[in-house]
Amino acid sequence: MKKHVWLVIWLVSLLLGACRAPEKQVVIGVSQCSEDIWRTKLNAELQAAAHFYGNVEARFASADDDSERQIAQIGQFVADGVDLLIVSPNQVNTITPAVEAAFDAGIPVILFDRKIDSDKYTAFIGADNVEIGRILGNYAANVLGGKGRIVEIQGLEGSSPAIDRHNGFAEALEAYPGISVVASRYGGWLQEGGAKAMQEFLDEGVAFDAVFAQNDRMARGAYEVLPDPSGIPFFGIDALADGIQDVIDGVLTATYLYPTSGDQVMEIAMHILSGEPFERENKLESILVDGQNARMQLIQEQVTARQLAMVEDLNDKQDEFLARINTQQLTLWLLLALIAVLIGGTVLAVRSYYITRKLSQQLEESTKAKLEFFTSVSHDLRTPLSLVSAPLDRVMADEMKPAQKQTLQVVRRNVDVLLRLVNNILDFRKIESGAFPLTLSRFDLCTAVREWMSGFEEASRNKELRFIGPDSLEVEADMHLMERTLFNLLSNAFKHTEDGAHIQVCVAEEGGDVILSVKDDGSGIDADQLPKIFEQFYQGRNESSGTGIGLALVRSIAQLLGGSVDVQSEKGHGSTFSIRIPRKGRGKVVEQAWDASAFTEHYVVMYSRGDSAQQEAAERATEADADKPTVLVVDDNEDIRDFVKSILEADYRILTAADGQQALEKATRELPDLVVCDVMMPVMDGLAFCKALKEQLATSHIPVILLTAKSLDEQRAEGYDSGADAYISKPFSEKVLLSRIGNLLKSRAQLKEHYLETGESAAAPKESDFLSKFRKLVRAHLSDPQLSVEWMGSELGLSRVQLYRKTKALTGYSPVELVRITRLKEAEKLLKTSEHTVAEIAYEVGFSSPSYFSKCYRELFGSLPAESR
Ligand code: AHR
Repeated sequence: MKKHVWLVIWLVSLLLGACRAPEKQVVIGVSQCSEDIWRTKLNAELQAAAHFYGNVEARFASADDDSERQIAQIGQFVADGVDLLIVSPNQVNTITPAVEAAFDAGIPVILFDRKIDSDKYTAFIGADNVEIGRILGNYAANVLGGKGRIVEIQGLEGSSPAIDRHNGFAEALEAYPGISVVASRYGGWLQEGGAKAMQEFLDEGVAFDAVFAQNDRMARGAYEVLPDPSGIPFFGIDALADGIQDVIDGVLTATYLYPTSGDQVMEIAMHILSGEPFERENKLESILVDGQNARMQLIQEQVTARQLAMVEDLNDKQDEFLARINTQQLTLWLLLALIAVLIGGTVLAVRSYYITRKLSQQLEESTKAKLEFFTSVSHDLRTPLSLVSAPLDRVMADEMKPAQKQTLQVVRRNVDVLLRLVNNILDFRKIESGAFPLTLSRFDLCTAVREWMSGFEEASRNKELRFIGPDSLEVEADMHLMERTLFNLLSNAFKHTEDGAHIQVCVAEEGGDVILSVKDDGSGIDADQLPKIFEQFYQGRNESSGTGIGLALVRSIAQLLGGSVDVQSEKGHGSTFSIRIPRKGRGKVVEQAWDASAFTEHYVVMYSRGDSAQQEAAERATEADADKPTVLVVDDNEDIRDFVKSILEADYRILTAADGQQALEKATRELPDLVVCDVMMPVMDGLAFCKALKEQLATSHIPVILLTAKSLDEQRAEGYDSGADAYISKPFSEKVLLSRIGNLLKSRAQLKEHYLETGESAAAPKESDFLSKFRKLVRAHLSDPQLSVEWMGSELGLSRVQLYRKTKALTGYSPVELVRITRLKEAEKLLKTSEHTVAEIAYEVGFSSPSYFSKCYRELFGSLPAESR
């Protein structure tokens, strides 16, 4: 068993190992304020870097320039328990609380490109937007030659780059008094925002010489709205591929490369997560792009974009490859597990095959040894039994007294039982060893069966035994074996049926076979016992007797005759045993005349002779011996009952019962002086009976002698534990039984004498308790002259007769006498301890007449009440 458990554990761990999760993933939430090509590029760089680290999962969310949405997205990342947050805040003020909350929740936060109005962040990385504004301011002033009007289009109001870029630009222009910013509008970082701002400048009639847009997209939007943009320099920021192209195409005069650097952002993130040192403030340097370096910058930008695309492609391929490897690995492990299971299963199967084979060999050997032992014992028994049987026949043929004849008939019956048992064992052994000579003869099976059934006539006096079948049916079979089969099946049926049962013997022909069956409506067989019923030495549950050889012999005979045996049974509804053999057996047929006497054994009446009415009559007849002590003899074997009865009936009145249940009913009703009881009996065994008898108040005082074939010490101990007073083993000596009964009854008589002399009980504690309860009851109703025995019995849980027998058995007094003695003893105490008159005391103890009281008092104590004072 243990080995199987380990095998299962090993397999499970193998499978778990195969399906093991990869190294723990780090989850990084990226909260983008908007979605545009600059951020798309940044996200691609972050994703590529995440792949590079292998165990990073980057989750992206974009707020589409909506601060409310970004606050919600950051909250969701916190709720999901990300390991780190990268945030580009849409606006300074609106997003600050959300970032602080994430930071306070213990999540490291990297701000990139844009800032918040708080210190609660882990690191910042981005370009210096004030510086960018300043560079562009100086550049524009140069382009304009230190003189001119500029319109400004800012990003999103409240976002840090918009503020910083504006401040840097304005600061630079302070050095150029000829240059002024004539109008400023917000374009929200969008191309259409830039177009809308320009339209407003035009609508308002604003005159200008240059345009500064805080990113290239807005610059492009404004450029497209202007009816004649030629000669107007446009300055932008970002310098992505489109912006650089616009510089080359002359749409923009210059732009500033606003670095994305996703790889650096991810590097800082990994430092933070792995606890390595990192810079809190990280400034990204960059360059201005104008007509001089735009082409080169574009090429560089295109190369970077291609490399990024390649990295993405490689990452996808790597993912695919790893997934394939994982699948193959899992398949391999499953295959290995399957092989292991197959090997383990094969080992277990082979092992259990050998164990089963060994066990069945051992069983076979022990069964064989048992059979050999029984065979040799049977051989040894057959000679002495024959030497008992033959002289017995001779003695029985002589004239003798009926009582002697009866005794010898008991001997005859039991010698026959032993002879049949011995023959069954020897025949079985012979058949099993293939040494049984088949003697086929041609005979009428129906006539033979009817004849064989007649041997059971006496046994069937209280049961209906019927033959069903054709008038005649000629068969070629071994007559002796057929007879033995029927005998065993009928014996079985009689054994398992009660008085009034129906037993049918059927003969039928079917397709060249004959079927001989015995059907009864008796106790039936448990379904789980049916498959074993024909096994040798098998004894069913609740079997009190039998060797388990009879049905095994029937099966062997059936097989020897080329047929089979079958049983149909239902618990409580009877059984049908059938033997089916070929009508014409194989072999030489010996001509043989049918001679019933040659086969009919002494089928005598082991099972039931004499009905219960006869038994009751016999018991009534013994009522003439009313003065004799009564002994209840309990045994399921009638011969034993008869035998014990014959030993005891001279001195005792005998009652009998065939099982514990009957005995308990009879003992409760009749209250015998003693019980002699067998142990192994159907319905209720002797131990259960004894226990029940000793538990009932009415019968607990009755001594029990267990008379049984079970003689081992532990069996004796079991007997005494059940409350038995003596234990005698079978075979028993008549003298020992008589003297055990005599002694037990004598000790009961001594108990009575002791009580009569002392007024105290020396009986077992249970019986002494009963007597003190009795006295207490009298004392509680002492002054009641009407105190009746019936009422006392009902209070104590006994009938009038039971109360009478019990008090008589324990004290020698009847209940009425015991009540009177108790009253007088109380009166004696009162006379000595109180000032009441004799008459008053007489009434107090329940006498209705003082003179009768005095008479009774003198009878018990030998003096008058007044003299006792
Ligand atoms: O935060 C800075 C700006 O945001 C970039 O210059 C712009 O294009 C981006 O979306």
